[in-house]
Amino acid sequence: MAAIIIKIGGSAFSDKRTGKSFVNVVARNVAKELPKKEKVLIIQGAGHIGHSIAKKYNLSKLSNNQNGWALLRYNVEQVTNVISKAMIDKGYAPMALSASSFFKIESGQAIVKNLDILRDYLNMGFIPLMHSDAPIDSINGLSILSGDDMAVLLANRLGASKLIFGTDVDGIYDKDKRTISSILKKDLKKLSISDADTGGTIDVTGGMAGKLKQIRMAKKGVKVYIINLRKHGELKKAASGKKTGTCIS
Ligand SMILES: Nc1ncnc2c1ncn2[C@@H]1O[C@H](COP(=O)(O)OP(=O)(O)O)[C@@H](O)[C@H]1O
Ligand SMILES: [Mg+2]
Repeated sequence: MAAIIIKIGGSAFSDKRTGKSFVNVVARNVAKELPKKEKVLIIQGAGHIGHSIAKKYNLSKLSNNQNGWALLRYNVEQVTNVISKAMIDKGYAPMALSASSFFKIESGQAIVKNLDILRDYLNMGFIPLMHSDAPIDSINGLSILSGDDMAVLLANRLGASKLIFGTDVDGIYDKDKRTISSILKKDLKKLSISDADTGGTIDVTGGMAGKLKQIRMAKKGVKVYIINLRKHGELKKAASGKKTGTCIS
């Protein structure tokens, strides 16, 4: 299915150091620059609030703090609602769906369930919208599944043509802070981006290093972009295959 998957990173819609919100600017950019002809699916990150709650309640350690899980989800969904509304106002039909309907965790591994419902929504012209979430773990209750993981797993299973990661940076920076404009998936592991280098931000799912680890799992046909989603025009360029950010093929 030729679909475009857009990951709206938490780094794009929130400053993960200070908590400052960029939700409105990012929601507006997305709603204005969505591809019109292709099928689109959106995965939203957790952002400052999500990562802070996950940390505070120790949720990345397979917690049974159900109240903490509920609070996490409630807060992340406030962002989903703002993004949905911006899209609805532009005439699109976003459809917020729960990741636990499509993923489960078995022995620490994310498993993709049957995607027929997701395909049906896409074929009907809806834009399925999910956020990084905590699907049911067959042993431990709930466990965190990052939006990056979800985006790559879905891109592979749906045979997406493009996977666009919207962030707060202009792409992958080299050691001189220049944006690497294109790189092959197989060369990503040569980049020395450490887990610790999250630029002082909170990210319980591994920051840029975690993202690149996931991107390496993307199938051959999936063209991946990392772009700055706070900047006007970047999503439009990536979605139409123009040069922008870092293109990973
Ligand atoms: N080499 C690099 N190039 C770009 N960003 C990097 C690099 N190394 C670390 N980062 C950090 O990774 C962050 C993006 O990852 P992350 O916070 O997980 O984004 P998201 O919330 O969108 O998943 C950037 O804000 C930046 O601080
Ligand atoms: Mg992240």
